[in-house]
Amino acid sequence: MKKFYIETYGCQMNVYDSELVTGILNNTPGYVAVDNPDEADIVMLNTCSVRDHAEEKIHSRLGELNKIRMERPGTLKVGVVGCMAQNLKKKLIDRKQHVDFVVGPDAYRRLPDILENENRKKRIIDTLLSKDEVYEGIFPSRKEGINAWISITRGCDKFCTYCIVPFTRGRERSRSVESIVEEGQLIAEQGFVELTLLGQNVNSYMHGKHKFPELLKAMTKIEGIKRIRYTSPHPQDVDEELLRVHADYLPLVADHIHLPLQSGSNHVLEAMNRTYTREHFLKLVEKIRKFVPSMAITTDIIVGFPGETGTDFRETMDMLKQVKFDAAFTFNYSPRPGTKAAAMEDDVPAEEKSARLSELIVLQKVHTLEHNQKYLGKDVEILVERVSKRRSTDLAGRTSQNKTVIFPAEDHNIKSIIKKKITELRGISLYAE
Ligand code: 5AD
Ligand code: SF4
Repeated sequence: MKKFYIETYGCQMNVYDSELVTGILNNTPGYVAVDNPDEADIVMLNTCSVRDHAEEKIHSRLGELNKIRMERPGTLKVGVVGCMAQNLKKKLIDRKQHVDFVVGPDAYRRLPDILENENRKKRIIDTLLSKDEVYEGIFPSRKEGINAWISITRGCDKFCTYCIVPFTRGRERSRSVESIVEEGQLIAEQGFVELTLLGQNVNSYMHGKHKFPELLKAMTKIEGIKRIRYTSPHPQDVDEELLRVHADYLPLVADHIHLPLQSGSNHVLEAMNRTYTREHFLKLVEKIRKFVPSMAITTDIIVGFPGETGTDFRETMDMLKQVKFDAAFTFNYSPRPGTKAAAMEDDVPAEEKSARLSELIVLQKVHTLEHNQKYLGKDVEILVERVSKRRSTDLAGRTSQNKTVIFPAEDHNIKSIIKKKITELRGISLYAE
């Protein structure tokens, strides 16, 4: 029996893909998943390429694995799978003498063959992208828990100029509604209570005539599922139909939308090929709040994109002030070789990028706290998820708006939905008596 271990970096899509790979190999005679790399015959790193720093992490992890390999020569195979594998292909093997196989995100079905061949022929690279691979018929092996991820689309056709994803994950394709609903049902039977639909642009989902709002509505019929989330939508594809599904199915369909703005300057948005202007985005936010006034809105922002002037950055800050996001993930721009933006001059100095980032984070924190204030003294519904990290007598859960709430454990059960009054704000967490 070959023992394999898979380590995941990057986005939720990669978490899902690792579960998919585990599903594929667990169903292959002769392979079994283990929880510890020290016990494994095969270690796979499921990797991310989205920013420099993501790739650097993998390089250093490969160095560590090489030490283990040297301690037990001939017994440990190391593979790199996923986005960075796809991105660097042969370069990864050329540069790293201690990588045995490199497998891209569309080649996981072939892993059993690759691992078999690997025994005979050294060092295999399979990074063929596919127009239609959606891993239909393969059920991911998930660890027991609250939330299960379901990938509904793969790839991306938007080609934002900074982004590596269209190159690492190929063209956008969607799974059938039936297979997604069926996976949802199996997930519910396994005891998961929350599901999160995943896609690089999740709401551009389209299978035949079936679009994202229809799929979302179909998921609400699955018995046992208490909350449905999705990530990440593209602002361009948020329509009234989607907002109506939120409004009609709250709080089962989460009272939260993650809406990546990236920049508040029209000229930067254009250079990023984001296909909307700040004015469109503001109108969209207005519309979201009209349909669902309680909706939490979170975002992603990149600072220091090529050509971003101080004035452009002020426009991003101004957008933050106008929208008042509930939370923001903020990034320094990092050029990804092969993308359109990588050919532009990376002309914002690193210190300036960091200064802009800090300023943004400070402002965002004010808004996050301001949003949290609204909940003081109010009753909220919490999906109970886990024992609190800080104190074992407390539990933690999340509201439909994706706010974490800490509360005394009492006799509440994990996976149940409870109602509590928010009595205190602690940092960015809410506390309920
Ligand atoms: N540099 C910095 N941030 C990036 N992102 C994607 N590509 C880059 C890049 N080259 C950010 C975007 C995206 C999030 C997942 O990562 O904000 O929404
Ligand atoms: Fe996910 Fe993008 Fe990183 Fe790939 S490059 S793992 S799609 S975040």
